[in-house]
Amino acid sequence: MPTTAWVTLQQQAATARGVHLRDQFATDPQRFARFSLREEGLLLDYSKQRVTVEVMTQLRQLWQEAKGAEWISRMRAGEAINHTEQRAVLHVALRQTGAGAYSRPEVQAVLDKMERFCAQIHGAHWRGATGEPIRTIVNIGIGGSDLGPKMAVRALAAHRLPHLDVRFVSNLDGAHLATELAHCEPAHTLFIIASKTFTTQETMQNAASARAWLVAALGEAAVARHFVAVSTNLPAVAAFGIDPDNAFEFWDWVGGRFSLWSAIGLPVALAVGMGNFRRLLAGAAAMDTHFFNAPIEHNLPLTLALLELWNTDFLGAETRALLPYSQSLELLPRYLQQLEMESNGKRTDRAGNAIDCNTAPILWGEAGTNGQHAFYQLIHQGGRLIPCEFIACIEADFALPGHHTKLLAHCFAQSEALMRGKTQSEALSETTHNNAPELAPYKVFPGNQPSTTLLLPRLDPHTLGQLIALYEHKVFALGVLWNLNSFDQWGVEYGKQLAGRLLPIIEGSAPVHELDSSTAGLMSACRSAP
Ligand code: F6P
Repeated sequence: MPTTAWVTLQQQAATARGVHLRDQFATDPQRFARFSLREEGLLLDYSKQRVTVEVMTQLRQLWQEAKGAEWISRMRAGEAINHTEQRAVLHVALRQTGAGAYSRPEVQAVLDKMERFCAQIHGAHWRGATGEPIRTIVNIGIGGSDLGPKMAVRALAAHRLPHLDVRFVSNLDGAHLATELAHCEPAHTLFIIASKTFTTQETMQNAASARAWLVAALGEAAVARHFVAVSTNLPAVAAFGIDPDNAFEFWDWVGGRFSLWSAIGLPVALAVGMGNFRRLLAGAAAMDTHFFNAPIEHNLPLTLALLELWNTDFLGAETRALLPYSQSLELLPRYLQQLEMESNGKRTDRAGNAIDCNTAPILWGEAGTNGQHAFYQLIHQGGRLIPCEFIACIEADFALPGHHTKLLAHCFAQSEALMRGKTQSEALSETTHNNAPELAPYKVFPGNQPSTTLLLPRLDPHTLGQLIALYEHKVFALGVLWNLNSFDQWGVEYGKQLAGRLLPIIEGSAPVHELDSSTAGLMSACRSAP
């Protein structure tokens, strides 16, 4: 049964459909001041979203009705809010360093172990089996054991320590491992096998192949000096042949896609130094404090969550484009795809009932300005509602003369164009070289395409920590609003199960029957291939 606020929002959405953002800006010179937040050094401008004061009031009412504050308390108290797996959700405890309320000795112990390990690698005290220093780290993991650290290492390119190459292998396709190993020398290479469960097929296959590559070059005894592991499953790590002293533990109260802050962040610490890794944690902790304490009207993650709910369930958007105007954040869309879609791409509520509205929209995106020369045409003139989220940094991380002001100009021009659009009479009155009147219809932009712009002062470990935690809490808030469990991922299991059944068939040890004709046809084609 929809609540009063929900019904009111449906009525407000019907009105909003007939209102153009261009007119809202024209009639309200205070629109930016009214719909922007400056919190924690970040600026969130949502004035180009199709909202009014009344809409925001009703959206905030939904959060109250969903008992959002109570859910935050339940998470912080370590209740098993991941009810389908009977697990607590305490990734915030991973960044409570020092004497914080959630500070846990086991977390501090692993951070200290990471620090000692980084010092050994960076100081060349850790040597490979032949006595050579380590020059290349290869992280083997997938999903949350890959996307977070890979994104963060890429994002912090300006903070990289010299002389250590950090690479990532995730895909089961041998092309991934083979092409990365082509850049590695066995004597100088150290593998991190990163897997929460230590059972994921992709990671186990890549780890076994990497081990075989190393053993072929340096012999079996070399494994101990060239493999470390990050996992919750220490017996499986030992069974793989990795010395327990070289295993970095984390815990089942850390979800895979929320695990960057645990030892899963080891490649980040190796790439940028443990000091910077701790700054990343501190940035996330600052955002935790903000999310837990800031009033609803000033709350950054909550505001993003409410805007997404409005666009998805009231205005009918199917997707959201994430457009970082930062090459260093080029992997952020991919990382957020897992964080947002694996968390909230669900259709069953906490009571086991069908959810009767849309949940997580399809997230996609690309670093600006590259996206402008690929898919922006469709956003501007394709006729679909596509809310856009721009992220930009006031200061450049690589300050080449002439680049950054142009980059910012493009970013702000895009959100302006999406908001304003261009009318036929404006197109006709343009004095460009190609202003034939018959071309005017092609130059019309409908505009009214909603967007948010998030401005960071700069991209550094602290602001990156803030940014990631901002999205984590946004995901949590949306899970509360949709009354779903954001922390399980049953939808990923079925494909794994079927792949297990098909493997013996494709390998020829089981017959092709009891399969649909398409699957059987595809399998037969591979079985008969030379
Ligand atoms: O994609 C499913 C999933 O379980 C993710 O949630 C997880 O991040 C990924 O697989 C990898 O799992 P693991 O770290 O256990 O190898």
